Amino acid sequence: MSKLRFVNCLLISTAICFFLPSIAARGGHSDYIYPGDGNSSFHVTARNLFAQEETRPSLELTRGYMTNDDLEKAMKDFTKRCSKISRLYSIGKSVNGFPLWVIEISDRPGEIEAEPAFKYIGNVHGDEPVGRELLLRLANWICDNYNKDPLAQMIVENVHLHIMPSLNPDGFSIRKRNNANNVDLNRDFPDQFFSFNEDLSLRQPETMAVMTWLRDIRFTASATLHGGALVANFPWDGTEDKRKYYYACPDDETFRFLARIYSKSHRNMSLSKEFEEGITNGASWYPIYGGMQDWNYIHGGCFELTLEISDNKWPRASELPTIWDYNRKSMLNLVASLVKTGVHGRIFSLDQGKPLPGLVVVKGINYTVKAHQRYADYHRLLAPGQKYEGLMFFPHIQLKIRVIMFVSV
Ligand SMILES: *[C@@H]1O[C@H](CO)[C@@H](O)[C@H](O)[C@H]1NC(C)=O
Ligand SMILES: *[C@@H]1O[C@H](CO)[C@@H](O)[C@H](O)[C@H]1NC(C)=O
Ligand SMILES: *[C@@H]1O[C@H](CO)[C@@H](O)[C@H](O)[C@H]1NC(C)=O
Ligand SMILES: [Zn+2]
Repeated sequence: MSKLRFVNCLLISTAICFFLPSIAARGGHSDYIYPGDGNSSFHVTARNLFAQEETRPSLELTRGYMTNDDLEKAMKDFTKRCSKISRLYSIGKSVNGFPLWVIEISDRPGEIEAEPAFKYIGNVHGDEPVGRELLLRLANWICDNYNKDPLAQMIVENVHLHIMPSLNPDGFSIRKRNNANNVDLNRDFPDQFFSFNEDLSLRQPETMAVMTWLRDIRFTASATLHGGALVANFPWDGTEDKRKYYYACPDDETFRFLARIYSKSHRNMSLSKEFEEGITNGASWYPIYGGMQDWNYIHGGCFELTLEISDNKWPRASELPTIWDYNRKSMLNLVASLVKTGVHGRIFSLDQGKPLPGLVVVKGINYTVKAHQRYADYHRLLAPGQKYEGLMFFPHIQLKIRVIMFVSV
């Protein structure tokens, strides 16, 4: 049995308190597409029906938004301008062959480090373009400020931030929700309750690209940006019996904490009359199936929120600077929460200094966080102000240990 040395098993304090003072979103109330219990033809039909009812925004309204070519150029220009702290890569292509570009921001972009990674995805729905605009602003803001702003600096130095402004460039180019095959990408992931889209050959290239991405990069948390409401949504998104009620996932408390970071750092999300504190459990709002959020948490080990950032899906482009201003602190604070809260560490054996990639389980929470295979770093997000009892398993050396974790306020 190896002796263990806990390196950097930090009990990181949480001082997240940057508190500042409709609906067709995840989404869309017209979007009650229930899985056809294994009958995928039902599903495709339902998607098409919904798509036909869609009204497209006028061309006039889209003026001032970046086209796909503009966005691609802006991303390339960004990684040239900020080459020290960023790189550009693509995770695949859309149905029509447009690259799905990602900007990675870090002081060591492209390298694997013993640090948590966060991803932002925008424009999952082609007709929700605000997110893609804000994500480019976020990247530029971090580049302009990481030498002077402590939060930006913390992100660059301690997190690998991956930003994908558009998962659905094809939908965007025709100003429609679905992708070029008329599939809603936020209904195309494997579902925990209903096996209605298990057929790999029917899975969309955009969905496949995200699924492969999560095999390559170990993300600790993420958020997708949608439009049509103003609320921070967290798992579960669906219920086993398709009815609508609050359905808590094992990490409900942590998710509520993360969602609150977003809503309370936002200029007015938490003032919502519809959603208490500006946050909601997905299933209690309206259940969806095949969504990206729950899949990330279950299969990707990644705590994902679905953020609805604007009641109006296509606000006039002149309003974008204001919306960015409303969201900036939230976007930064959510990423920084990966460093400021939870329990993080690395585990090595004392005899040979070998990394020991264990499994971390917190008593009372049925969820396993895996340490990185090569670097043995683990990042276990937890709501602050509590003492947790944890277990670490090292299956390959048949060792189990008990640890007490404090996550202070
Ligand atoms: C699937 O739906 C089609 C069309 O509604 C129907 O004809 C077929 O019987 C269904 N198949 C199953 C297995 O339910
Ligand atoms: C938040 O501010 C926006 C822009 O001023 C406004 O349209 C929206 O109604 C506000 N929402 C809440 C909940 O205050
Ligand atoms: C824990 O979660 C798994 C799914 O991840 C489930 O199969 C199992 O039944 C759960 N265990 C308990 C005790 O709830
Ligand atoms: Zn959406």
